[in-house]
Amino acid sequence: MSKNIVIAIDGPAGSGKSTAAKNLAKELGFTYLDTGAMYRAITFLALLKGIDEDRNAVIEMTKKLSLNLKYENGITRVFADDIEVTDKIRSAEVNSKVSEISTIPEVRAEMVKLQKKIGEENNLVAEGRDVTTVVFPDADIKFFITATIDERAKRRLRDFHLSGIEISYEEVKQNLEKRDTIDSGREISPLTKSQDAIEFDNTGLTPEQDLEFLYKKVKEELSKRN
Ligand code: DC
Repeated sequence: MSKNIVIAIDGPAGSGKSTAAKNLAKELGFTYLDTGAMYRAITFLALLKGIDEDRNAVIEMTKKLSLNLKYENGITRVFADDIEVTDKIRSAEVNSKVSEISTIPEVRAEMVKLQKKIGEENNLVAEGRDVTTVVFPDADIKFFITATIDERAKRRLRDFHLSGIEISYEEVKQNLEKRDTIDSGREISPLTKSQDAIEFDNTGLTPEQDLEFLYKKVKEELSKRN
C-alpha cells in the first residue's frame, strides 16, 4: 500500500493557516487536522476543573483523556471523553491560557502521538506550531504561513466580533504578541520555520488567494514526483 500524503502547515496565531488548511484539505479531498484544537481542549478542561496551575494534575488528566476530532461542514468538532467542547475551546479565557499549557512536555508528547496516528491513517492537511518540525518532519509538502501582527490582530478581532465576543483591538493584539513570544520562545517544539518549508506571507490577501497559492504549489510539488 502506498504511503499517505501529508501536507504540514505551521504559522503564528491569526496567520490564516486554519482557514487555508481547511480550504486546501477540502479542495484535495484530504482529512483536515487542527492540532491547536487539541491543546485548546486540554486547556479548557484544565480551567473547568480548576487545575490549570497544577502541572502534574494537567498531565494526569491528559493521559487519561480520550480526545476525538471530527471535521464536519467546515468546522472541527472536538469531543473530550465523548462530551462536545467545540465552542468552549475558542473562548478568550482559553486563548489566554493555551500557550502556557502547551509548554508542558508530557502534554505535547501525548498530543503528538495522537497526531502521528491520524497521519498514518489518512491523507492529511495538518496545521499548528510544530507539525512541520516535530510531528511530521517527513511531510510531503511543508508551508510556513505568516502575516504582520496588525493584520493578524484585525483578523482575530473580526472573528471575535462575529462570534458575539466584545473585546478591543489592543487586547487582541497584546494577546497575540504574548502568544507569539511563548509559542516561539518555549524550549520544547517552538514555532520555527522548518528549512524545507515554503514561506508564505499572506498580508493583504484573501482566503481565496491563499488557497490559490497553496493549491498551485501542492500540484507543482506532487507532479514532480509522478
Ligand atoms: O492554532 P491555535 O491558535 O488554535 O493554537 C492554540 C495554541 O495551541 C497555540 O497558541 C499554541 C498551541 N499549539 C501548539 O503548541 N502546538 C501546535 N501544534 C498547535 C497549537
